[in-house]
Amino acid sequence: MSKLAQIIWIALIVFLVSGWQNAFAIHASIYEPRVPNEILAEIQEIENPYPATEEQIEAGRKIYFGKGLCVTCHSKNGKGVRIPGHSPRDFTNAKWQETRTDGEMMWVLRNGSPGTGMPVRVGKVITENEGWSVIHFIRTFEGK
Ligand code: HEC
Repeated sequence: MSKLAQIIWIALIVFLVSGWQNAFAIHASIYEPRVPNEILAEIQEIENPYPATEEQIEAGRKIYFGKGLCVTCHSKNGKGVRIPGHSPRDFTNAKWQETRTDGEMMWVLRNGSPGTGMPVRVGKVITENEGWSVIHFIRTFEGK
């Protein structure tokens, strides 16, 4: 077998074994922070300026199913639809919910999750206030 044929075989096997998902993924784990390390500590400290009242959660629900378009990728039950590369986060995962702060989620809404399908939302399709409300709504998926 030529060297090139060998390389192609190995690449094919690695692709098949690791699967479509890993072949495109840049983060090894869903728990790994999405915020760059240099600013992580500072971003984690930022608190949601609004209390998690019923009105806030309801406002967030409207954004999620409406103009935020979150539901198209994150689905009705928050578990996410299957797409190549990084799957949308499973918002029902309690360990993930506990790992992330509201400040980190806001960073992702402002910047997207670079290298993944998660697009910029705040400043593009929703305002910052709407972003904080939708974060309160996302918290309600925990453990469902
Ligand atoms: C085009 C598909 C798409 C849309 C629309 C979308 N998301 Fe995402 N979202 C993703 C993907 C893919 C990921 C996983 C990214 C990763 O693994 O870093 C993600 C991840 C996330 C995360 C978790 C990031 C982390 O820190 O682990 C949050 C929070 C989030 N999205 C919120 C939202 C909200 C709120 C909306 C609507 C305002 C929204 N997304 C719209 C695809 C989408």
